[in-house]
Amino acid sequence: MNKKIVFTLLFASVCSLSACGKDDIGSLDDSVIINEGSLSDRAEQDTSAESLQTTAGGYVVTEVPTTTTTVTTATDELGNIIAETVPVETPETPASETPAETVPETPAPSVIDYTPSTAAVGTPASTAVLPADAPTPYDYNYGPAPTVYNIPGIKYIDNVLIANKSYSLPADFYPDLDQTCLSQFYKLQNDAAAVGLNIYLSSGFRSYDTQDYIYNDYVARDGQEKADTYSARPGHSEHQSGLAIDVNQIDDTFIGTPEAIWLEAHCYEYGFILRYPQAKQDITGYKYESWHIRYVGTDMSYKIHSKAVEMGDPYLTLEEYFGIDSYYH
Ligand code: DAL
Ligand code: ZN
Repeated sequence: MNKKIVFTLLFASVCSLSACGKDDIGSLDDSVIINEGSLSDRAEQDTSAESLQTTAGGYVVTEVPTTTTTVTTATDELGNIIAETVPVETPETPASETPAETVPETPAPSVIDYTPSTAAVGTPASTAVLPADAPTPYDYNYGPAPTVYNIPGIKYIDNVLIANKSYSLPADFYPDLDQTCLSQFYKLQNDAAAVGLNIYLSSGFRSYDTQDYIYNDYVARDGQEKADTYSARPGHSEHQSGLAIDVNQIDDTFIGTPEAIWLEAHCYEYGFILRYPQAKQDITGYKYESWHIRYVGTDMSYKIHSKAVEMGDPYLTLEEYFGIDSYYH
């Protein structure tokens, strides 16, 4: 399908969401469900390295093999638009074959805590005592660090892209959803399904222009001060990095569901962190988002998780881990 047509339809959906009272159920910024450069769209595109370099504005990028996917969109009983992704092909090459520049050669250091949380709903049987040489969840779910872009203006710390209120992305930075992030999400999704939970992708990549549109929509509705607590200004959203995924219902009704509890306890095993944890608004700049996860790769997610356990704080933020701030300067 023509990309412009898909995009126009998505915007039409956005407009109808605003008009039909979706906001009445307390939805937040990401309740405007937009999968820009949507998966169905990509399924019909040439996703070769050459074409991706073009969409990244001619910048030099480290290419990652792609997966062909489809999207089925549906409307639930409340009238909310739901986009559910269904992979139809496995990655062309194993994730471990992505460019060496960003892929650690060795597993994470032994100081990392491999023990899955026992507080989770539906904790898999793999938490039982295993032989010392048995594969750990870390081995099984290994996900390399995402693509690092050699682009002036993007802040990296330890190869981790930072997009928050203090650090922005160039307006023409358009990487689309990172393919390693997506394939790791499918592992997470499959493992959740194996314990009876339904976790699906609701919102992935958003461009600068899309963020500009939805942010200003929220400013018009709630005023800038309130909008800034739940919606990023254009250039400041992690969704523009291609490394953020919103799952399931993108509002506070997701809090406390079995899926939300499992996601918070297990997402690090797949290379994700819960990006805006509860009671961290003064640190991240945003209120609690139980549905928003950020891909950093398993080496980094385990390091962050290990540090969090050490500190007795289950959900350490990037701001805390790297000692950075998040406010509009
Ligand atoms: N809701 C998050 C903060 C965003 O707009 O990117
Ligand atoms: Zn989000």
